Amino acid sequence: MTDTAPHRRALAARLTTAGVLTTPAWRAAVQAIPRENFLNPGVFLPDGSRWRPVTATGSDPAEWAEIAYSDESLTTQLDGHLTADQTAEPVAGYPTSSSTTPVTVLDMIERLEVQDGHQVLEIGTGTGYSSALMCHRLGEDNVTTVEVDPGVAARADAALETTGFSTWTVTGDGLLGHPRRAPYDRVIATCAVSRIPYTWIRQTRPGGIVLATVGSWGYGTGLAKVVVSDHGTAEGRIVDRSSFMQARSQAVVPIAGDLSARTAYPDSERPAKVRPTILGEWMPAFIAQLAAPGAQLVRARADDGEQLLYVFDPARESFAEFIAEGEAWTVRQGGPVALWDVIERALLAWKDAGSPDITTVQVRITERAHTYWIGDNPELRWEHRIV
Ligand SMILES: C[S@@+](CC[C@H](N)C(=O)[O-])C[C@H]1O[C@@H](n2cnc3c(N)ncnc32)[C@H](O)[C@@H]1O
Repeated sequence: MTDTAPHRRALAARLTTAGVLTTPAWRAAVQAIPRENFLNPGVFLPDGSRWRPVTATGSDPAEWAEIAYSDESLTTQLDGHLTADQTAEPVAGYPTSSSTTPVTVLDMIERLEVQDGHQVLEIGTGTGYSSALMCHRLGEDNVTTVEVDPGVAARADAALETTGFSTWTVTGDGLLGHPRRAPYDRVIATCAVSRIPYTWIRQTRPGGIVLATVGSWGYGTGLAKVVVSDHGTAEGRIVDRSSFMQARSQAVVPIAGDLSARTAYPDSERPAKVRPTILGEWMPAFIAQLAAPGAQLVRARADDGEQLLYVFDPARESFAEFIAEGEAWTVRQGGPVALWDVIERALLAWKDAGSPDITTVQVRITERAHTYWIGDNPELRWEHRIV
């Protein structure tokens, strides 16, 4: 067994140098909590387009400690079931649970501004590492953590016990929060949500903070930090870019199959005023989701290798298909919502405003609507009604 205390001290020093670890109490937590306790039975490391399983028991202890304290997110489950002890060979798969990279975990945790005695609700227990840090800081009775996957929840609970914490690990859909232990002073989600569920606002005390990654496009999501008022609303802003795996119950069903069938009946065709490839950039992708919630960006390849680009909104049976002609783009749109008209108008207004950063986006949540805005331009204001 390797003594990982030096690894933990080194991790705390790196996080301090990076500017994310600023509070002595959180530094003490990082130095105290062995991340390796939360990685059983093992992890999947990227190996080209596949994942190489590495288990704790099958590894050299020094090598395992290096992995455990690397500044990486460590994937612990693929495709909603596979763990690293269940395969010896590299496998293809989609990560469904992980130990988030400590720099992200500590950055979020510090932004929570917790105080002694605060009750925290965490959504997305994962390995339990972030829950353990919070138990160290606040005490095990002040941390409630919800994990949707029963196997993941059981492993996290066992790891928390091994580390000395009998916390409230709940198996269930975290989008419902956990009413039985409410109200909370802080809610933190370590999975992304397409919008913050109102249940989290309802379960938070006035003055409390809710921190969660909003959006559903890869590399186009933002970390929302809102403060709950005593009228049951919450207001705040996007404080940073942020990227997390999507909450399972909100997971976007990838659009596949015959895309030409989805775009067979266009209602209009015109030159695009904004090149659609801008949607590969973070802030334009975020703006597009504000303008057209429910839309998905889809990249595909034709049989002849040509790159294809679309925006689909399956619930509204609407599409925009983009056709490149040299530097210029033509857009064909179909369905009740002219998706590119809506997105393009928002992108043009955003460019006219000087392409402001994601941290300029403000947000207000009520039971009936989520409103996002930048400045006072009505073209940069989006109200998403809950219907
Ligand atoms: C990135 S991991 C969490 C990392 C974790 N905080 C850590 O430090 O190890 C995201 C977790 O959220 C869980 N999750 C996804 N959707 C959820 C939901 N609706 N409710 C609760 N947990 C959910 C996933 O199963 C996954 O374990």
